[in-house]
Amino acid sequence: TRIYIPADAQAVALAADRVAAAFEQRAQGRDVTIVRTGSRGLFWLEPMVEVETKDGRVAYGPVKPGDVGGLLEAGVLEGGPHRLRLGDPAAIPYLARQTRLTFARCGIVDPVSVEDYVAQVGYRGLSQALSIEPVEIVDIVKASGLRGRGGAGFPTGIKWSTVQLAEADQKYIVCNADEGDSGTFADRMLMEGDPFALIEGMTIAGLAVGATKGFIYIRSEYPHAIRTMDRAIATATAAGYLGPSVAQSGRAFTIETRTGAGAYICGEETALLDSLEGKRGMVRAKPPLPAMKGLFGKPTVVNNVLSLATVPWILDHGAQAYADFGMGRSRGTLPFQLAGNVKRGGLIELAFGTTLREVVEEFGGGTRSGRPVRAVQVGGPLGAYFPQNLLDTPLDYEAFAAQKGLLGHGGIVVFDDTVDLAEQARFAFEFCAKESCGKCTPCRIGSTRGVETVDRILAGIEREKNLDVLVDLCEVMTDGSLCAMGGLTPVPVLSALTHFPEDFRRSPARAA
Ligand code: NAI
Ligand code: SF4
Repeated sequence: TRIYIPADAQAVALAADRVAAAFEQRAQGRDVTIVRTGSRGLFWLEPMVEVETKDGRVAYGPVKPGDVGGLLEAGVLEGGPHRLRLGDPAAIPYLARQTRLTFARCGIVDPVSVEDYVAQVGYRGLSQALSIEPVEIVDIVKASGLRGRGGAGFPTGIKWSTVQLAEADQKYIVCNADEGDSGTFADRMLMEGDPFALIEGMTIAGLAVGATKGFIYIRSEYPHAIRTMDRAIATATAAGYLGPSVAQSGRAFTIETRTGAGAYICGEETALLDSLEGKRGMVRAKPPLPAMKGLFGKPTVVNNVLSLATVPWILDHGAQAYADFGMGRSRGTLPFQLAGNVKRGGLIELAFGTTLREVVEEFGGGTRSGRPVRAVQVGGPLGAYFPQNLLDTPLDYEAFAAQKGLLGHGGIVVFDDTVDLAEQARFAFEFCAKESCGKCTPCRIGSTRGVETVDRILAGIEREKNLDVLVDLCEVMTDGSLCAMGGLTPVPVLSALTHFPEDFRRSPARAA
């Protein structure tokens, strides 16, 4: 009997390793194989243990180490009844209601077994890519409508086309796995749960643009992901899927991981390239775009983990099949990450177009505190705070932009009615002041002036004048910053000010 137990960092934080050890010890003498998987992303049920029975997988969760003896006595190896029995995991509504394309295998396969990956229809995209011309690969990605999942939503096919058309003796594929947004974890989960999807996507990108070398830049805070990626790269290389002749095609592609050093700004693509080159991560002026002059001055595709990991599905199923999901110019799916003060946090891959309310209320089940939802921040620390009356906004790049918000990397953080939005606005400036690379004045100085201005407003010092100063400052930062760090910090600030003005006008006594 195969027992699947996540080795995902989130499950491990909830004692998944100890649960696995308890099964190992207590099931001794029985015909049991423990397989460590990624997570399915239902965090409140972790560690979720799945048992392979003659009728398919049966899930139990959340399992504590102390539950294991009782579970075995109850006959879990045969899928027996128990208070923690969840039944067929795929039928749990939270999962059944999702459209899992990028995350189809996550939580199901053994992340470091290439045989398992191939058995679960892995590497079919690559074989399709090897059977067509590079320009056709780019055309398929263009036609799929896939847009950059790091946050900016730039069409992936157009980026690839720029690199493909650039003439150079060497080109690179760089995967941005410096997932720095608060409340986001999709890149991490993918790398820990289905690393071959990323490897395959990068390989296809390499074939498409004529790059033979790929780097994955992973933040140092993700040690599990780094380990899993390194093991998967070694396995793919040994199996001939990476190396001088990818799948015996005679075309080379290799991948190496690189570890960040804790700077949020190194998630900005040009700072990331500086860091990869061994320098301090500082933002470069664009143009030249990395697509023209990127890593070591060579044409470089810089894509987020999710963009690259989605490409195999597109090549395998066709551009139209992917484009059939979504709304407007947002095609396909986005793996949303639900966090904060919410009952059921986790990974929710959905076609664009679902409303924010459906995610927060129906998937999330409202706040964990049981108090009313007051604000939801979408798109990481640089995203807008939406009030109740904007929760019906569909999750779509343009619909969010129309409300002065952004989808970003798909992070959704829920706050109840105890949140103080003026404090959150202050935090946005504080975060910017801490993480600014310091290259341009509006961001370097503006962020610190922002903290001071919010403090004056809260202290009731020349409040109306300082509220005007705050708006002016935001305008300067938006217009004058070199990159999204300084340029988007006003987004959370202005959304707080627009939708929750009362928090900036409370009596100074309360502020003290
Ligand atoms: P951007 O709009 O400057 O660029 C988007 C991408 O398209 C870049 O890779 C750029 O090089 C490329 N590009 C633009 N024109 C091109 C052309 N003609 N040919 C080829 N490539 C072209 O946005 P940026 O500054 O890269 O990203 C900002 C976004 O990052 C924000 O919207 C935010 O949501 C997101 N973000 C994500 C974080 C995360 O942890 N994933 C953290 C912080 C911000
Ligand atoms: Fe650096 Fe901030 Fe300017 Fe970006 S906006 S280049 S982080 S100083």
